[in-house]
Amino acid sequence: MTANEIIRKKREGNSLTSEEMQFLLLGYVNGEIPDYQISAFLMAVFFRGMNTEETVEFTRLMLHSGVVVDLSAISGKKVDKHSTGGVGDKISLPLAPIVAACGVPVPMISGRGLGHTGGTLDKLEAIPGFDVNLTIDEYKKVIAETGLVMIGQTKEIAPADKKMYALRDVTSTVECIPLIAGSIMSKKLAEGIDALVLDIKTGRGAFMQSYERSLELAQTLVSIGNKFGKETVGFITDMNQPLGYAIGNWLETKESIDCLRGEHIPDVMELTYVLGGAMVMLGGKADSIEEGIDRCKEVVETGRAFNKFVELVKAQGGDSKFLLHPEKYPPAKYSEIISSREDGFISEIDSLELGLSGITLGAGRTKVDDVIDPKAGILLKKKIGDKVKKGEQIAEIFTDKESVIPEVKKRVESAYTFSSAQTFPAKLIHAVVDKNGVREFSIH
Ligand code: URA
Repeated sequence: MTANEIIRKKREGNSLTSEEMQFLLLGYVNGEIPDYQISAFLMAVFFRGMNTEETVEFTRLMLHSGVVVDLSAISGKKVDKHSTGGVGDKISLPLAPIVAACGVPVPMISGRGLGHTGGTLDKLEAIPGFDVNLTIDEYKKVIAETGLVMIGQTKEIAPADKKMYALRDVTSTVECIPLIAGSIMSKKLAEGIDALVLDIKTGRGAFMQSYERSLELAQTLVSIGNKFGKETVGFITDMNQPLGYAIGNWLETKESIDCLRGEHIPDVMELTYVLGGAMVMLGGKADSIEEGIDRCKEVVETGRAFNKFVELVKAQGGDSKFLLHPEKYPPAKYSEIISSREDGFISEIDSLELGLSGITLGAGRTKVDDVIDPKAGILLKKKIGDKVKKGEQIAEIFTDKESVIPEVKKRVESAYTFSSAQTFPAKLIHAVVDKNGVREFSIH
């Protein structure tokens, strides 16, 4: 067997055996197969795809390229959530402590900002001292003591994915369903979970912009989770405008704290409660998603969810003073108001443009080694459906980089579209996908 023959076989559209994929993946992790051959393999998969058996086998090989954490010593069903990423998507921050406060342990391994989308790790690191680089032993200790833990991918977790993801990023092979599925699910299955909830974004600010592709990704992810014996439920959710009002790391962490302290930010809390309700149900603490939603609302109202977040922050070395007094957080050097250029109703907000503007302000990276400014970002003052008058504030930008302000002001301004007739945002939760198939989602 040679790498060359296997690449040719995939290039010609044939399916690969487990042995062939193992030869490539293990050879790659061990440094015996070079980047250029794996790049060619990835591009062949990008164009030729993988059938279901290949995708499952690919995931299994990626998963077993590293350690599968054993959390069996922790009682209860462990449940995590994964989002395919969006703009203003801070949901993990309020969600994990809410679900943990309901008595369901949440082991969470998250990622950093990717392209125009933000990452949970960068938001957590906006809290001074918060350490996302725990060892596996520390990860186990924190979840045992607090009921939740939030870290980044360690060197032991799915190393084949870690190495291959960096290559996909620079060879334009990210947007490929079997590769995404193997990448996401190998990391999630390695965490020690018993069940998983997935948030698959669709729309302008998502990796999968069309509903059909998002559905295909959702079905692939859910079927892999279930094949590995982990009950998996996926929600297809809208990413045609940013979630909530905040974009940028500290701004989003602060918005999450506000939610945990009972502020009702409608889309953030609707999504948090639905994903949370499903997690609480899968964790065996409710009989239905609806009952799980009620449990989640109770722990926010009683303050238990916020206290759980404080507990987590302290356990991972973060300075909890900023949770109790977010107003003490150092402000960005510059802020500028963006005003409406017309009277009317806001009909569209281009979340991709706002995500990219956030990066220019310092909230994200264009190269892996870029340093993020946690204070940088955008606060929306108006969202789709809101009525505005010409000259009224629609957004505010925050940055330490004075030179980027004129360009970003223009981009944020033009990300808004107005109409004279009243408009409404798209439905936030389009569908739910589970072992029984796909159905429209509504709460009874
Ligand atoms: N997130 C991942 O972890 N992997 C992908 O391939 C895409 C998004």
